[in-house]
Amino acid sequence: MKPTTLLHEMEDLTQELTMPSGPRLRVIAVTSGKGGVGKSNVVANLGLALAQQGLKVLLIDADLGLANLDIILGLNPQFTIHDVLQLRKTLPEVLVEGPGGMKILPASSGIPELSDLDEYQKMFLLNELDNYSESVDVVLVDTGAGISRNVLFFNIAAQERLVVANNEPTSITDAYALIKVLATQHNERRFKLLVNGLSQPREAEAVYRTLLKVAERFLGRDISLEYMGYIPHDESVPKSVLKQQPVLTLYPKSRAARSFTQIAQRLWETPAPEEVDGNIKFFWRRLLQYQI
Ligand SMILES: Nc1ncnc2c1ncn2[C@@H]1O[C@H](COP(=O)(O)OP(=O)(O)O)[C@@H](O)[C@H]1O
Ligand SMILES: [Mg+2]
Repeated sequence: MKPTTLLHEMEDLTQELTMPSGPRLRVIAVTSGKGGVGKSNVVANLGLALAQQGLKVLLIDADLGLANLDIILGLNPQFTIHDVLQLRKTLPEVLVEGPGGMKILPASSGIPELSDLDEYQKMFLLNELDNYSESVDVVLVDTGAGISRNVLFFNIAAQERLVVANNEPTSITDAYALIKVLATQHNERRFKLLVNGLSQPREAEAVYRTLLKVAERFLGRDISLEYMGYIPHDESVPKSVLKQQPVLTLYPKSRAARSFTQIAQRLWETPAPEEVDGNIKFFWRRLLQYQI
């Protein structure tokens, strides 16, 4: 290849990487450290609330060992993210349609957690998502619990991290542990917090203040933890889980459903700052920056 041709191609590539490419797609990892705090419910219902506001929503079940988004949403998927990772299926072949027209990339329950995704699997998955990104406004990723490499990968690949916690000390310490690893080892400084399962606003705000105080004290004052609000403890949530439907569908007037709608609005009004990822359609630059 002549050097001038190469130069032109490099210029094209640079333009591709820096030109604005339509409305920005938002990729939000929903994460928690501790399991059982309501992450999957948040993903399902926040996703539906965003879809009801007219957005095209993709949910990714990245809890590769204990998948349950499909169960919460009453879906019966034929294929899962495992088929994509094993290169047996493409993303569109695996996606299923859920409530409100949401698209869901399911995982499988009962399969032992995939050992760390290898570089090829990560690249392949991100490439599939990138190809699909034109059809989506917002992606919510259910990362699963813990701080395994897979969990960290999805947190870093996403542009935004929404941490879910309740007021149990274990939930707060595990949320902090996750924030700490992402901040100290991967230079993530911006987080959003959603408190789940409390009765009073002031209890939820106390969780936020505790986490913020510890994070600022030990990780530095440039850590940003933005409070998105709280979902009240509400018996409509477990009732809807039993019926395998989002609380927003089954009990739209419940306190929990109304909070999901409000928080979806707030979340949509507070995008990550532009400079975080510029105009890259999907998470390529971040992937190139951080190899974990
Ligand atoms: N706001 C809430 N009020 C009452 N129960 C809740 C609430 N949020 C979640 N739950 C219950 O907590 C359990 C765990 O929720 P889940 O979303 O599966 O957690 P995770 O994905 O973090 O492991 C579910 O059985 C669900 O019904
Ligand atoms: Mg879950």
